[in-house]
Amino acid sequence: MKLDRNLVLKLLEDVEAVISRQTSGDLSEVCRILRDSVDHYDWVGFYLVDPEKERELVLGPYAGKPTEHTNIGFGQGICGQAAETGKLFLIQDVSMESNYLSCSPEVRSEIVLPIFHEGKLVGELDIDSHRFEPFSDLDTELLEGICRMVSSYI
Ligand code: SME
Repeated sequence: MKLDRNLVLKLLEDVEAVISRQTSGDLSEVCRILRDSVDHYDWVGFYLVDPEKERELVLGPYAGKPTEHTNIGFGQGICGQAAETGKLFLIQDVSMESNYLSCSPEVRSEIVLPIFHEGKLVGELDIDSHRFEPFSDLDTELLEGICRMVSSYI
Protein backbone atom coordinates (compact mmCIF):
# COMPACT_ATOMS: atom_id res chain seq x y z
CA MET A 1 0.00 0.00 0.00
CA LYS A 2 1.03 3.56 -0.55
CA LEU A 3 2.03 5.23 2.72
CA ASP A 4 -0.51 7.90 3.67
CA ARG A 5 -1.66 9.36 6.99
CA ASN A 6 -4.36 6.71 7.51
CA LEU A 7 -1.86 3.93 6.96
CA VAL A 8 0.62 5.57 9.38
CA LEU A 9 -2.08 5.62 12.09
CA LYS A 10 -3.21 2.05 11.35
CA LEU A 11 0.36 0.70 11.43
CA LEU A 12 1.14 2.48 14.70
CA GLU A 13 -1.97 0.86 16.22
CA ASP A 14 -1.14 -2.57 14.80
CA VAL A 15 2.43 -2.44 16.08
CA GLU A 16 1.28 -1.23 19.49
CA ALA A 17 -1.07 -4.23 19.70
CA VAL A 18 1.79 -6.59 18.83
CA ILE A 19 4.24 -4.98 21.26
CA SER A 20 1.73 -4.93 24.13
CA ARG A 21 1.48 -8.75 23.93
CA GLN A 22 5.16 -8.93 24.94
CA THR A 23 5.84 -12.43 23.70
CA SER A 24 8.94 -13.62 21.92
CA GLY A 25 8.94 -13.18 18.17
CA ASP A 26 7.15 -9.86 18.38
CA LEU A 27 9.90 -7.87 16.70
CA SER A 28 9.83 -10.28 13.74
CA GLU A 29 6.13 -9.65 13.46
CA VAL A 30 6.70 -5.88 13.55
CA CYS A 31 9.16 -6.28 10.65
CA ARG A 32 6.69 -8.41 8.71
CA ILE A 33 3.79 -6.00 9.25
CA LEU A 34 5.85 -3.06 7.99
CA ARG A 35 7.30 -4.87 5.00
CA ASP A 36 3.94 -6.30 3.95
CA SER A 37 2.07 -3.02 4.41
CA VAL A 38 4.21 -0.38 2.78
CA ASP A 39 4.99 -0.66 -0.94
CA HIS A 40 8.43 0.86 -0.73
CA TYR A 41 9.69 -1.23 2.22
CA ASP A 42 11.61 -4.19 0.77
CA TRP A 43 13.79 -5.15 3.73
CA VAL A 44 12.89 -4.26 7.32
CA GLY A 45 15.10 -5.28 10.21
CA PHE A 46 16.44 -4.49 13.64
CA TYR A 47 20.12 -4.31 14.49
CA LEU A 48 20.84 -4.61 18.20
CA VAL A 49 23.82 -3.25 20.11
CA ASP A 50 25.85 -6.37 20.89
CA PRO A 51 26.04 -6.70 24.69
CA GLU A 52 29.14 -8.92 24.38
CA LYS A 53 31.21 -6.68 22.11
CA GLU A 54 31.99 -3.04 22.35
CA ARG A 55 30.71 -0.78 19.59
CA GLU A 56 29.22 -3.49 17.41
CA LEU A 57 25.75 -4.12 16.04
CA VAL A 58 24.36 -7.60 15.58
CA LEU A 59 21.51 -8.44 13.26
CA GLY A 60 18.21 -9.03 15.07
CA PRO A 61 14.79 -9.95 13.70
CA TYR A 62 14.14 -8.95 10.10
CA ALA A 63 11.80 -9.50 7.15
CA GLY A 64 13.24 -9.79 3.65
CA LYS A 65 16.14 -11.55 2.02
CA PRO A 66 18.99 -12.76 4.26
CA THR A 67 21.91 -10.34 4.48
CA GLU A 68 25.62 -11.02 4.81
CA HIS A 69 25.90 -8.02 7.14
CA THR A 70 25.14 -9.77 10.40
CA ASN A 71 27.73 -7.83 12.44
CA ILE A 72 28.47 -4.16 11.81
CA GLY A 73 31.02 -2.09 13.69
CA PHE A 74 30.13 1.42 14.82
CA GLY A 75 31.11 3.80 12.02
CA GLN A 76 30.80 1.18 9.26
CA GLY A 77 28.13 1.71 6.60
CA ILE A 78 24.93 3.63 7.14
CA CYS A 79 23.97 1.51 10.15
CA GLY A 80 27.34 1.97 11.81
CA GLN A 81 27.26 5.72 11.23
CA ALA A 82 23.77 5.94 12.76
CA ALA A 83 25.08 4.00 15.77
CA GLU A 84 28.18 6.21 16.06
CA THR A 85 26.29 9.49 15.88
CA GLY A 86 22.94 8.46 17.40
CA LYS A 87 21.25 10.24 14.49
CA LEU A 88 18.67 9.18 11.91
CA PHE A 89 20.19 8.52 8.47
CA LEU A 90 17.91 8.98 5.48
CA ILE A 91 19.65 8.03 2.24
CA GLN A 92 17.42 8.64 -0.78
CA ASP A 93 20.08 7.37 -3.22
CA VAL A 94 22.62 4.87 -1.90
CA SER A 95 24.79 5.24 -5.02
CA MET A 96 25.85 8.65 -3.66
CA GLU A 97 27.25 7.14 -0.44
CA SER A 98 30.87 6.08 -0.06
CA ASN A 99 30.44 4.59 3.43
CA TYR A 100 27.70 2.13 2.56
CA LEU A 101 27.42 -1.65 2.95
CA SER A 102 25.41 -3.14 0.10
CA CYS A 103 23.05 -5.98 0.94
CA SER A 104 21.75 -6.35 -2.59
CA PRO A 105 22.24 -4.49 -5.89
CA GLU A 106 18.46 -3.93 -5.99
CA VAL A 107 18.58 -1.56 -3.02
CA ARG A 108 18.37 2.09 -4.07
CA SER A 109 17.62 3.85 -0.77
CA GLU A 110 17.71 3.28 2.97
CA ILE A 111 16.54 4.76 6.26
CA VAL A 112 18.14 3.92 9.62
CA LEU A 113 16.77 5.11 12.96
CA PRO A 114 18.69 4.68 16.21
CA ILE A 115 16.65 3.30 19.12
CA PHE A 116 17.37 4.55 22.63
CA HIS A 117 16.23 3.19 25.97
CA GLU A 118 16.81 5.26 29.10
CA GLY A 119 19.23 7.44 27.17
CA LYS A 120 21.32 4.54 25.92
CA LEU A 121 21.54 3.29 22.33
CA VAL A 122 20.08 -0.22 22.28
CA GLY A 123 19.55 -0.84 18.57
CA GLU A 124 18.36 0.45 15.24
CA LEU A 125 15.52 0.05 12.81
CA ASP A 126 16.82 -0.32 9.25
CA ILE A 127 14.69 -0.23 6.10
CA ASP A 128 15.92 -0.79 2.55
CA SER A 129 13.91 0.16 -0.51
CA HIS A 130 14.32 -0.84 -4.14
CA ARG A 131 12.93 2.58 -5.04
CA PHE A 132 14.80 5.80 -5.57
CA GLU A 133 13.86 8.69 -3.21
CA PRO A 134 10.80 6.95 -1.71
CA PHE A 135 10.95 8.33 1.83
CA SER A 136 8.93 11.30 3.10
CA ASP A 137 8.05 12.89 6.43
CA LEU A 138 5.36 10.22 6.83
CA ASP A 139 8.02 7.50 6.96
CA THR A 140 9.95 9.39 9.60
CA GLU A 141 6.78 9.95 11.65
CA LEU A 142 5.75 6.28 11.40
CA LEU A 143 9.20 4.85 12.07
CA GLU A 144 10.04 7.21 14.94
CA GLY A 145 6.74 6.18 16.55
CA ILE A 146 7.63 2.52 16.14
CA CYS A 147 11.13 3.01 17.56
CA ARG A 148 9.61 4.68 20.63
CA MET A 149 7.20 1.74 21.09
CA VAL A 150 9.81 -0.98 20.81
CA SER A 151 12.58 0.78 22.74
CA SER A 152 11.78 -0.78 26.10
CA TYR A 153 11.35 -4.16 24.48
CA ILE A 154 14.78 -4.52 22.85
N1 SME B 1 23.13 -1.04 4.05
C1 SME B 1 23.47 -1.12 5.44
C2 SME B 1 23.83 -2.54 5.83
C3 SME B 1 22.70 -3.32 6.34
S1 SME B 1 21.68 -3.89 5.12
O1 SME B 1 21.00 -2.72 4.51
C4 SME B 1 20.53 -4.92 5.68
C5 SME B 1 24.60 -0.17 5.78
O2 SME B 1 25.18 0.46 4.90
O3 SME B 1 24.92 -0.07 6.96
